[in-house]
Amino acid sequence: MICGTVAAAALDLLLILAAATPFCFGANVTYDHRGLVIGGRRRVLISGSIHYMRSTPQMWPDLIQKSKDGGLDVVQTFVFWNLHEPIRDQYDFTGRKDLVKFVKLVGEAGLMVHLRIGPYACAEWNYGGFPMWLHFIPGIVMRTDNEPFKAEMKRFTAKIVNMMKEENLYASQGGPIILSQIENEYGNIDSAYGKSAQTYISWAASMAVSLDTGVPWVMCQQSDAPNPIINACNGFYCDQFTPNANNKPKMWTENWSGWFSSFGDPVPRRPAADTAFSTARFYQLGGSFLNYYMYHGGTNFGRTSGGPFITTSYDYDAPIDEYGLLRQPKWGHLKDVHSAVKLCEEALVATDPTTTSLGPKLEATVYKTKSGLCAAFLANVDDQSDVTVNFSGNSYHLPAWSVSILPDCKTVAINTAKINSVATISKFVRQLSPKDTTVEDAFSGWSWINEPVGISSNSAFTKLGLQEQINTTADKSDYLWYSLSTTIKGDEPFLQDGSRTVLHVSSLGHGLYAFHNGQLVGSAKGNYSDPSVSVDIPINLVSGENKIDLLSLTVGLQNYGAFYDTKGAGVTGPVQLKGSHNQATVDLSSKLWTYQIGLRGEELGLFTGSSSEWIMQPTLPKNQPLVWYKTTFEAPTGSSPVAIDFSGMGKGQAWINGQSIGRYWPRRVASNAGCTESCNYRGSFSPSRCMKNCGQPTQQFYHVPRSWLQPGSNTMVLFEEMGGDPTQISFATRETGSICSHISETHPIPLSTWMISDEEMRKQAQPTLSLDCPLDNQVISEILFASFGTPQGACGSFSHGECSSKEALSTVEKACIGLRSCSIIVSADTFGDPCGGIAKSLAVEASCKWLDPHEDAYGGSIRSL
Ligand code: GAL
Repeated sequence: MICGTVAAAALDLLLILAAATPFCFGANVTYDHRGLVIGGRRRVLISGSIHYMRSTPQMWPDLIQKSKDGGLDVVQTFVFWNLHEPIRDQYDFTGRKDLVKFVKLVGEAGLMVHLRIGPYACAEWNYGGFPMWLHFIPGIVMRTDNEPFKAEMKRFTAKIVNMMKEENLYASQGGPIILSQIENEYGNIDSAYGKSAQTYISWAASMAVSLDTGVPWVMCQQSDAPNPIINACNGFYCDQFTPNANNKPKMWTENWSGWFSSFGDPVPRRPAADTAFSTARFYQLGGSFLNYYMYHGGTNFGRTSGGPFITTSYDYDAPIDEYGLLRQPKWGHLKDVHSAVKLCEEALVATDPTTTSLGPKLEATVYKTKSGLCAAFLANVDDQSDVTVNFSGNSYHLPAWSVSILPDCKTVAINTAKINSVATISKFVRQLSPKDTTVEDAFSGWSWINEPVGISSNSAFTKLGLQEQINTTADKSDYLWYSLSTTIKGDEPFLQDGSRTVLHVSSLGHGLYAFHNGQLVGSAKGNYSDPSVSVDIPINLVSGENKIDLLSLTVGLQNYGAFYDTKGAGVTGPVQLKGSHNQATVDLSSKLWTYQIGLRGEELGLFTGSSSEWIMQPTLPKNQPLVWYKTTFEAPTGSSPVAIDFSGMGKGQAWINGQSIGRYWPRRVASNAGCTESCNYRGSFSPSRCMKNCGQPTQQFYHVPRSWLQPGSNTMVLFEEMGGDPTQISFATRETGSICSHISETHPIPLSTWMISDEEMRKQAQPTLSLDCPLDNQVISEILFASFGTPQGACGSFSHGECSSKEALSTVEKACIGLRSCSIIVSADTFGDPCGGIAKSLAVEASCKWLDPHEDAYGGSIRSL
């Protein structure tokens, strides 16, 4: 039985049909060398990753709909073990962890699911997704042929599979899950595990298959994946990948749409034209399943980010941004590529491709069937030169590093370097509402509680020598105090001749604050590439008792690499006092240290806001370490996504109405080097190629899901480690600014032409510039720029070139003002010819406004808390 449409074709007409019918298969999923075979039908599929716990259930329907509108057939997610089984045998599938609900919603939208059970995930997720209790099982060694590990891995994998089966969620049962994954990228690091790696992988394969899901399993980056497991590729490009058996389809489980960011580093971006190029190349060379990692990256709420040092934002430069808004033109351009691929699907699944050379770095691939179907891909993989090629008697302009897709082997439906989609500039807008709605008010609206320096808890304990942090805290908190008192006699060399003493601390990381007799004397933080810290802090020892309190902290646990789970953290030493004058050294490393796991405020549950200890006085402490802050506020009006601008704060954690929005760290500024204003899409991409935010905070804005806010009074609690001024914090909403488009006379005709016209009509169609306001209840209110001729620059900074038609602005205004969307043919017939013989283009920037002014978040005064 196949009763829903699985086609999820990208063309709008087909999408309307798909939307009408919820998913209901009842078909086994198999595969052959050309693709997955679902209910007996071979498919070319397009997928995107959305990790359900990186957004909220309230956001899921919209994210799924936007995925479907973007031309996806499949949504892919990891299942994070540590989220669902935080304590052994105690499961949690509530709220954001409601995996069944997420899978059902995807199915109800008419899309399919690829469930990556792992249970190792990587994913910049704390500890790669493993629960911490796993680490404490005697004799365990993760991800190898080790009985205790295998027993737990099997138990959790079976638990998830059975849950899905009980809800009839596999395609074989009528549900949306068409594919699963076991392990993740083990092949990248398996050599470190010696011979056991192979026996482990064979075991994992047969364990997975024995669970009898009725759908195939994949292992990604696993060239020796045993039959019947499909080995799949991950990377920025996978067109050259070949599976390890002739009967397996060419699958790409992670086409990285961008890259993650880490505190202290610039923020990576991947140009839409390059992502589109990689996708088109993959389908050109026989690919049949591609997944964007991520399609929506989302947010690492709470303490879920890994790394260490992964930011709270997991935006990933994905087609849907962290806040759920379309990232344009990436989303729209990929949608066009998907539509073009879908126009070829019949030919693609029916035959093998034939690739021929059209010249150096020029390739033509043709899928031609006996029944007369023909689809072609023309690629220019040179990263410098645009060329015009001759193919089947016609000439085609191929910019450098681009692919043209010809669904009928004649007409270009899309060229990956020529973007037809609208571009938008999304921005944070300071929240504007009546000033100061705070309920608590002692001038500032903030109250506070000081976190004591050093040991304050009854559960503190002593140990001889320095303890590794993760084994000590079991990751119950980011924080571990190491405390010691040492008595310095008046005649000791440290105190003589005015010599200064240095406190030396070596730590595996990830950060450290050092206090001497209650005063902060120094601090240090590692970074993503080297989390360790080693500091020499000058201190003035005093005669008598000298108290050394070291607050060591983690910033998300390691998630990648061979034996990553055993990488430690914390002050493992040495800790020494060094006299600068006479070289005297006292090693404190093996002394009796007192330890406290976590903070007093954590033990008291201050994050909920309820305690009688909150102090409200005009003397609010600012720029002092270790302070808990609290305020109440009214939620920003409107429906736009909400963020907090933490400028003015140092580093810490934040809670809204008791829910952790994650670690904030606006003071961590990205290095100055490596950013480019404009980003060249031509040539092999790497994360360091197109970065932004150099010399600025890696992350200044932090997402507060709308559903965590309530009408009336809301509570915000912060724990500030290093010192900050909470009165500088402000709210912002995420808005779409201008919309732009820049279309040349050589751009492909709009894809919609393929739906309504025959070949003859297509021949007459012309390149067209379309503008589209991002939301239904908006209209184009102003044309900020319009130029036909040789305009230059990018969206937001267009300028007229030497040649420009005088008619451009008025023509565009006439066609667009007051409408939600408009289209204009890009040709001298529309605008007059301002300069004969020169290739021309039309560039437009416009702004949209709400039809209902109440929804407008602009206007008014800036509001600080
Ligand atoms: C891959 C891994 C993903 C994610 C990605 C980087 O190697 O499979 O889980 O970590 O790298 O974002």
